[in-house]
Amino acid sequence: MIFEPAKRVKAIPRNFFNQLDEKISRVEDKATLIDLAKGNPDQPTPDFIVTALKQAVDQPKNHGYTPFDGKKNLLNAIADYYQREHGVQIDPQKEVLTFTGSVIGITALPQTLLNPGDYVITTNPCYPEYYSAVSLAGGKLWQLDINPANHYLPDLTSVPKDVLAKAKILLLNYPNNPTGATATQAFFNQAIEFGKQNGILVVNDFAYAALGFNGQAVSLIQNSGSKEYAVELNTLSKTYNMAGWRV
Ligand SMILES: Cc1ncc(COP(=O)(O)O)c(C=O)c1O
Repeated sequence: MIFEPAKRVKAIPRNFFNQLDEKISRVEDKATLIDLAKGNPDQPTPDFIVTALKQAVDQPKNHGYTPFDGKKNLLNAIADYYQREHGVQIDPQKEVLTFTGSVIGITALPQTLLNPGDYVITTNPCYPEYYSAVSLAGGKLWQLDINPANHYLPDLTSVPKDVLAKAKILLLNYPNNPTGATATQAFFNQAIEFGKQNGILVVNDFAYAALGFNGQAVSLIQNSGSKEYAVELNTLSKTYNMAGWRV
C-alpha cells in the first residue's frame, strides 16, 4: 500500500543534506572527496562529557520524564554560560527553553508565529534546514543575498513593502553557515531596530558561537533591550563535538 502523503509533507523541499549524501555515495574513489556537507565535528566528544553521561545513566532519578521546559539544573547552566561567555544576564526560569537540538527550535519557531503565506526573511545562501522549517509552517522564505560586496551581511532595507507586511521572523545565522562570516554588533543593532520597527521577531541561529579565529563571536542578545525582540538559538553540537547527542 502506498499512502498518499499530506500536502504539507509533499510541499517540503527535498532535504539538501540527504541529496549530498546520495551524491557522495555515488563517488567510487572516496579518497578524492573533501566532505563539506554535514557539519560533523572531526574530533570525538571530550572524555569528561562521555564520563558524565555514563554516570548520569546509572542514576534512576534520570529515568523519568523531564519537565516540559527543561531541567532546572540545565536551564541554570545555560544562564551561567551566557553570563560567562557573553556577559548577558538571562532569567533561567523565564528566558530559556530547551529543545532536542537547535534544528527542533528552528522548526518550532515558525510554527508558533506564521500563518499560511507569512514570510520568514533570511539570507541567500542559508542553512538548508530553514527551507523545510518554513515550508512545514505553511510560510514562505524571502532571501537576501549575502556576498563579499556586502561583507556577507544582508541589506535589510531592500525587503519589498509587501513582503515586510507579511514577515514574522528575521532568521539570521552568525557565525554563518556556509560562508563563515561573522556579524558585527552594529549589524545586530540594526537588525533589532528593523525587528522593532516592523513587528518582526529577530532570531540568530548561533550554532557556531564558539568557533572562530578572532575571539568571541557577538551574541544577538548582547545588545541591551534586544530581548524584547530577539531569540537566540544555541547548541552543544559544534562547541562540544556532540553533534549526535540530544538532550
Ligand atoms: C547553522 C546551523 N544551525 C543548526 C545546526 C544543527 O544544530 P543541532 O545539532 O543543535 O540541531 C547546524 C548543523 O549543522 C547548523 O549548521
